[in-house]
Amino acid sequence: MAKKPNKDDILSKIRKQGSGTSGGDASAADAAAEKPKAAPAGGPADIMAKIRAQGASGSSSGAAEEKPAAAKKAAPKSPADIMAAIRSQGGGDAGASAAKSADAPVKKAAAAAAPAGDLPPVDEMLRQMKAGKVSGGEAAVAAAPAKPALKVPVRPAKKSAAAGASTRRGFVSWFAAAWVLLTVTSATWVLGLARFMFPNVIVEPPSQFKIGSPSDYPLGTVSTKWTAARGIWVVHTDQYKGKSLIYALASVCTHLGCTPSWLEGEQKFKCPCHGSGFYMTGINFEGPAPRPLERVGLAVAPDGMLEVDKSVKFQEEKGQWEDAKSFVDASLV
Ligand code: FES
Repeated sequence: MAKKPNKDDILSKIRKQGSGTSGGDASAADAAAEKPKAAPAGGPADIMAKIRAQGASGSSSGAAEEKPAAAKKAAPKSPADIMAAIRSQGGGDAGASAAKSADAPVKKAAAAAAPAGDLPPVDEMLRQMKAGKVSGGEAAVAAAPAKPALKVPVRPAKKSAAAGASTRRGFVSWFAAAWVLLTVTSATWVLGLARFMFPNVIVEPPSQFKIGSPSDYPLGTVSTKWTAARGIWVVHTDQYKGKSLIYALASVCTHLGCTPSWLEGEQKFKCPCHGSGFYMTGINFEGPAPRPLERVGLAVAPDGMLEVDKSVKFQEEKGQWEDAKSFVDASLV
């Protein structure tokens, strides 16, 4: 396997070509021969001129003609490409087959490292390098596409004074609504407390009241005039112990408190609830009622009117009917 020529071998080879009369057209050879007169052979400028002259003449060497068309089309554009081309030329002098096998990876690497269109042509790069304006790296940097500008995040704008005022107004409105609600609730509680201080009062008629003259209640009658309004019957009878007495009976059944009815045809009080019956005198005689009806206070007022006092009750079973306040002797009035 042929040894890969290094840079010194390539330069020495080129110097030998420049000093001798190797293959190539006559003009290029003359130009290469005339160069040493103007400057010492072997300088970088001379080497590059030699390479350019060989490229222009189409490289009369057989090895160069055998290069693939694809390799010729991919012209070297970077220093790495130039060095690869130089190596390929040097290898061509030593042997075309050996150069092909040795330089193929280098050419592929150069082609991959320098895609067409990213860098200026090699002639332009060499011209700039000779002029000393930019170096190879600078030319590549200058030809490289510009990086996209960094996007700086925009800081959000602060809330405006109008937005702050709107927020404050919303807070004030909610605050006012809360105060109104609290006030209404407090007022309701105060009104409820005041109503509690003044409870409902059942207005009852006075327990003492006048029912008229004794002559308004004839003997042997039961008056129901005051039953509905005052809850009493006014009885004038002589059936109780043979005395003509006027008294007032409470219209309350002694069984469970219902209101009996006076039955004029039957001359008795009849309770509609459980059927208890009472005589005109008030003595119970039928039904579940356990005792006689109760009397209330009755007296003759100074004006001669009968006056009832419901605040006092008189029970027969207790002997209270003997009390003078429980009746009015009709024979005395
Ligand atoms: Fe009068 Fe029962 S309440 S009989």
